[in-house]
Amino acid sequence: MTPTAAEYAARQEIPVAQVKTRAPRPKIVGSDSPEPPFPISLVGPVQKGFGRGGKDLGCPTANLPDDSITPISSVAKTGVYYGYAQVIPPQESRGDFQTDDLNVLPMVMSLGWNPFYKNKVLTAEIHIMHNFQSDFYGYEMRAIVLGYIRPELDYVSREALIEDIEIDKQVALNCLQRPAYQVYAKDSHFQHQEELKASM
Ligand SMILES: Cc1cc2nc3c(=O)[nH]c(=O)nc-3n(C[C@H](O)[C@H](O)[C@H](O)COP(=O)(O)O)c2cc1C
Repeated sequence: MTPTAAEYAARQEIPVAQVKTRAPRPKIVGSDSPEPPFPISLVGPVQKGFGRGGKDLGCPTANLPDDSITPISSVAKTGVYYGYAQVIPPQESRGDFQTDDLNVLPMVMSLGWNPFYKNKVLTAEIHIMHNFQSDFYGYEMRAIVLGYIRPELDYVSREALIEDIEIDKQVALNCLQRPAYQVYAKDSHFQHQEELKASM
């Protein structure tokens, strides 16, 4: 069985995906409802990464601290995943947020060592599919991971990585259209949007 992300980290080993040619990618993956180990709930304060996601890739990501990613890294292999996420600003910063920034939103997540950038530590980076008007470092992020899309890969160019991330986003949106996945947008792991909006 493929080692989990945490097993690789414990061995101080970095997984290498060997891909010679890339077949056309499916537009939807997985089954009609989430299968174990999913759903996996994550929560933690948003940390700064290296900032390359927004600058280099046009895909800003929000990182979670190490102890917040154990629920997934201890049971799942490295790779790209999809699900829902919500950012919850502290009371004093709610004025910086638009009301639709508080919604439970579709997300894609990369769990691993970013082979293209040759990172030295395991990270979980979440790209929320929404145009936030302001940064939210330090704010609480809640997420539910519902399925696996593909392994993390190394790329011959930045453009090839960007192209694959764009496909990941489409695949995630298609996967989340399925009714058994949509119910998780209303899961009690997330804060009720109406209550949050009322407190703004
Ligand atoms: C959906 C998604 C898929 C990704 N796939 C890969 C990948 O296959 N290989 C890789 O090296 N990095 C991958 N990344 C990670 C990006 O390289 C990483 O998010 C970027 O370097 C930003 O990190 P930083 O903000 O810490 O600089 C992916 C990120 C996302 C959001």
